[in-house]
Formats: sequence, structure tokens, C-alpha cells
Amino acid sequence: MAAIREAKIIDRAIEIQLEKANSIRFEDCWLRDHCRCTSCYHADTFQRAKHILDIPDSKIVSLKYNENQVIITWDDGHTSIFEADFLAQFDYKKWNDGRKLKPVLWHGDEVATKITRIHVDKFLNTKDGARSVFQSLLDYGVALIEEVNATLEDTEVVCKALGGVQHTIFGGMWQFTTRADHADTAYTNIPLALHNDSTYFTESTGLQILHCLEHSNGEGGDTILVDGFYGATRLRHEFPEDYAFLTKFNIEAEYIEEGHHHKFSSPVIKIDAKTNDPAQIRYNVYDRSPMAFTSSEDCRAYYRSLRNLGRYYEDTKNQWQFKLWPGTVMVMDNFRVLHGRTGFTGTRVLAGSYVSRSDWLDRARVLGLIQ
Ligand SMILES: [Fe+2]
Ligand SMILES: [Zn+2]
Repeated sequence: MAAIREAKIIDRAIEIQLEKANSIRFEDCWLRDHCRCTSCYHADTFQRAKHILDIPDSKIVSLKYNENQVIITWDDGHTSIFEADFLAQFDYKKWNDGRKLKPVLWHGDEVATKITRIHVDKFLNTKDGARSVFQSLLDYGVALIEEVNATLEDTEVVCKALGGVQHTIFGGMWQFTTRADHADTAYTNIPLALHNDSTYFTESTGLQILHCLEHSNGEGGDTILVDGFYGATRLRHEFPEDYAFLTKFNIEAEYIEEGHHHKFSSPVIKIDAKTNDPAQIRYNVYDRSPMAFTSSEDCRAYYRSLRNLGRYYEDTKNQWQFKLWPGTVMVMDNFRVLHGRTGFTGTRVLAGSYVSRSDWLDRARVLGLIQ
């Protein structure tokens, strides 16, 4: 509970001093916009009631306060009451820090002992179970859900609990064997280099969920994961020019099959404006479009920087390689973690889906893990 020690008018703003906290300044335009009376705010839907053009440009005529409230009278006769707890949220540093994601960088198979591995019933039926899965996704970008029946239906239940199935040109829930029914390398049995999916969508798919339902009469097909943020951070320190290039230069990616042509252009390393750290990696060596360049410098920087970044991802010391068996659903954050696969023989049946980033962060927020 925040407690107000003092409140005063300064020019067209008020400044409040809270117990054991910084003072916070609020401009009159902000205060009028955030008035919580029933004509300014619909408390039942958490929505403002007035268009921004209809908020009067009025001035504060008086200010009263006690420990719990600030009461403002405006020059058009309106009164606004603000609770101390409401105002306390808007100390900029606290507000901004609360919105920063804090990924824990990893490399190699050390991460195997850190991520959440949890029985499916605990994930589906307990809040603590759900929290530990989403916390693992926020911290490491990976979680494993175990003892899931090896069927598409049971996998779908897990996908729904992770935020809901994201529909793409590949369907909602998908299941495939080595049969090639899409024009993509993922549908063959050759090794797949580390990559992010859907770099050609205007927003990449969020979580990638994979469940190996069957692997018989053969071997191989290990899953390989690498932390995209770790590689980007190494590049930042060891090849700062390449890092700067990949955070600014728009690299185009595309996906073509009969009746479809997706295309999107964006930096390979997207920066979080709050932390100045990587927020998304879209590294996919297969899906790059043929591009024209304005200068030979840019063209050379494109090859140099993609190779220098790719070396961290292809370095086996940075990778976590393991075999997924029926029963274990792997969940990974496609905005961060790159995935690949060793070649294999035999019949391999995989099922899974995507969950959009907005939908899984929604779950994490409802569970109280992020703001
Ligand atoms: Fe993939
Ligand atoms: Zn009001």
C-alpha cells in the first residue's frame, strides 16, 4: 500500500511525495485523461470513456490530499479523485523496469538442467505448474512437458493451455511424416541447420511446439537448440560492426508454394528499445530472398555478418542436442531459440503447432509473471 506524504501544485502539474519512494510529477493533461470517475472511465471494461479530442484542456484550481488519496478540482467544475496505489504505479523507473523481459542467456547442454520439465497433469491442472512452464519460457526460451499421450488430440490440449493454436498456411495443429506435402526442407529427412521459423511472416510465429509421436525402424533425428540471444550477444562484443549491421539492415525472407507468396523484410536482430538488448532473432539461411543492394559495402556486410553470427549458432559447444521421444512435448520461443535437427532414417511422425507471441505472453501476464 502506497502512502502519500505530501502533494503540491507546480505550474500545470502536481508533484506527490510517497512514503519511502521517489516523488512523482503528473502533468494536468495526464491527470485529466486518467480521471477515474464514471464519466471519464468505464471501470467494468478498463477502458477510457472519452476520445482524446474531447478531454478538456482545463487547469487545476485546488488540490487536497490525505494518506490514501489526491483530490483535484478543475476550473470547469469537474472533480477527480486518485488513489495513492494507482498513482504509485507511475514512477517511471519502476514502471519501465517492470516491463523489461530478463532472459537468462545460455549455451550448450547446461540449460538441460535449468529448464522446467513437468508432468502434463501438473502443467494443465495447477497454477504453480503453469507458472513454472511460462517462467522457463521467459528465462530460457524452452520448456518440456512430459507424459503426454502420443496423439494429436493430447498434444492439442497442451497447445491450447500454452495460449491457443496459431493458424498459418501450415494449418493449426499439424502432423507429418517424411511425406513432402509442403515445399519446405523441414518435410524431408536431411539434417536441418539451426534456424528460426516464419521469418517471412510480418510477425513470426511465437512458440513452436513439437511432439514426436513415433520414430520406428531407424535412428537419428536428434533435436538441436541454440540460444539466439547468446549468439547475438557474443557477436555484439566480438564483431560490433556486424552486430550493428544486423540490428539495422532489413533482410528479406520469403516463402513460395503454389497459391502462396509470403515475404517480409526486417533486421535479423531486433532490439528492445527499453533494454537495448536483442528482443527477437530471425535467422534462417534457407528462407532469404534474392536481394539488391545500394552499395558493395552493404552487400559484403550482409555476407560477413550473417556468417559471423551463424558460426555461433553452428558451434556445437553452444548447442543443446537431445532426442525427443513420444510423450515429451517440447516448447520453444521462436523469437529467441533456433532449432535444427540431425538427419534420420525410419518413420518419424511429428505433431505440433505454433502459439502466437501475443497469446503466450497473455498467459504469462495473467499468471503474474510479467507486466
Ligand atoms: Fe523449423
Ligand atoms: Zn472524470
